[in-house]
Amino acid sequence: MSSKAAGAPLNVLVIVASTRPGRLGPAIADWFVGATLPEAERRGITIDVADLAELGLPLLDEPEHPSSGSYVHEHTRAWSRRVAAADAFVVVTPEYNYGMPAALKNAFDFLYHEWAWKPVGFVSYGNTSAGTRSVQMTKQVVTTLKMMPIGATVALRIADSTRNGQVIESAGLDKTARGVLLELSQVAAAMRPLRTRPHRDDTSVSGPVEGLTLTIARPDDLAELLVLQRCCWVQEALANDTLDLRPLRETLDDLRASMSTWQLWCVRRHGRLVAAVRARTHKRAWLIGRLMVAPDQAGNGIGSWLLSYVEEQAPEETTHHELFTGHRSTRNIRLYERAGYALTTADDTPDGSVHLTKQRQLIA
Ligand SMILES: Cc1cc2nc3c(=O)[nH]c(=O)nc-3n(C[C@H](O)[C@H](O)[C@H](O)COP(=O)(O)O)c2cc1C
Repeated sequence: MSSKAAGAPLNVLVIVASTRPGRLGPAIADWFVGATLPEAERRGITIDVADLAELGLPLLDEPEHPSSGSYVHEHTRAWSRRVAAADAFVVVTPEYNYGMPAALKNAFDFLYHEWAWKPVGFVSYGNTSAGTRSVQMTKQVVTTLKMMPIGATVALRIADSTRNGQVIESAGLDKTARGVLLELSQVAAAMRPLRTRPHRDDTSVSGPVEGLTLTIARPDDLAELLVLQRCCWVQEALANDTLDLRPLRETLDDLRASMSTWQLWCVRRHGRLVAAVRARTHKRAWLIGRLMVAPDQAGNGIGSWLLSYVEEQAPEETTHHELFTGHRSTRNIRLYERAGYALTTADDTPDGSVHLTKQRQLIA
C-alpha cells in the first residue's frame, strides 16, 4: 500500500500497528489515507503505509544497540530505510490491555536515529476509551526516541465509528483526519532544521582525520548529497572521457527513490558533507556503490576507511562484496585493489565499467 504525490517535499509514513488475523487496523489506515490523500496531493506530501503485519519483523534480534546504526539483518536495514525516508509518522493503533500492541513497541525498538526529530500523529481506536490509553503509553516511548507527538488526533470508538469492519463515512471525521495531516506537516517543516543540522548525538567516529561524523542518510541530507555526487563524478567523466554517467544525471527524486532500496551513509567533517556510500544485498552479495569523497578531501584516507566501514555493515548471510567503477578510473581501481578487491567479469557490467569482488572476511 503506497500513495505518492508528485515532487513530494514531505514524506509521511503511516504505520499500521496491529498484526493479528482479522484485525481492524488496515481498514482504519485505508480510511485515513483516503480521507487525507487529496489534501496531501495538493500540498505535495507523499504518504507511504507500513503495515507491521506485512513487514513481519521478528522480535528484536539485532546484537548492537540501534543507536550504533549497525545492523546485521536485512529486515532491519529495510525497516531503517523506510523510517529514515520519512519526515513524519501517523501511527494507526488499537488499544490492547490499556497499552500499545507489542508489535508497535518492537518496531520502535529496532531503530534509533531514524526516528529522531520527526513529528508523530495518532489515529487510535478501541472500545470505551477509543484507544487513547494506548496513545498515552506510546507517547512516553516516542519522546525517548526524539519524536514529537502532535496535539491533533483521531480517536475512534469502534462501536460508534465503524460498521462491518469499515469506518462509517463522516465529513466531520474526514476533517479531523485532515487536521492531523495539516498539523503534522507544519510541525515536520518547523523541525526540519533539527533534522538537517549535525546533532550532538550523531555518531562521532574516530576516522583517518579529526572532526568526522558518520550517519545513515536522512531525507534532508539528499540535496547536499546530490551536489557532492555531481562534483565527484565530474572527475569520473574526465577520467573516462564521457558525460554519459548515471550519477551525473540523477535528480533529487532519483536519490530519494534510491533510499527505498539502498542503505546510504553520510560522512560529515565539522558538519560539512565530505563523503558518502551506499550498499544493499543482492542474493549472497553485498553490493557497494557510489563511494565518493569530496575532491578537496581526497587522499587523506576517508575513502578506504569508509569502504572498510561499509563492508563491516554486510548482513550475516552475505558471502562477498561487489562493486563497479569506470574502466579508466585508475585511482578508484587502485583503492579497491589495495582493499583486497579483484577485477572479475560479470554479465551485468555496464559499458565502460569494470566489476570488482572481494570475499567477505568474517570477524571472529
Ligand atoms: C489482546 C486484546 C486486548 C484488548 N484490550 C483492549 C483494551 O484494553 N481497551 C479497549 O478499548 N479495547 C481492547 N481490545 C479491543 C480492541 O480495541 C479491538 O479488538 C480492536 O479491533 C483491536 O484492533 P485490531 O482489530 O486492529 O487488532 C483488545 C483486543 C485485544 C485483541
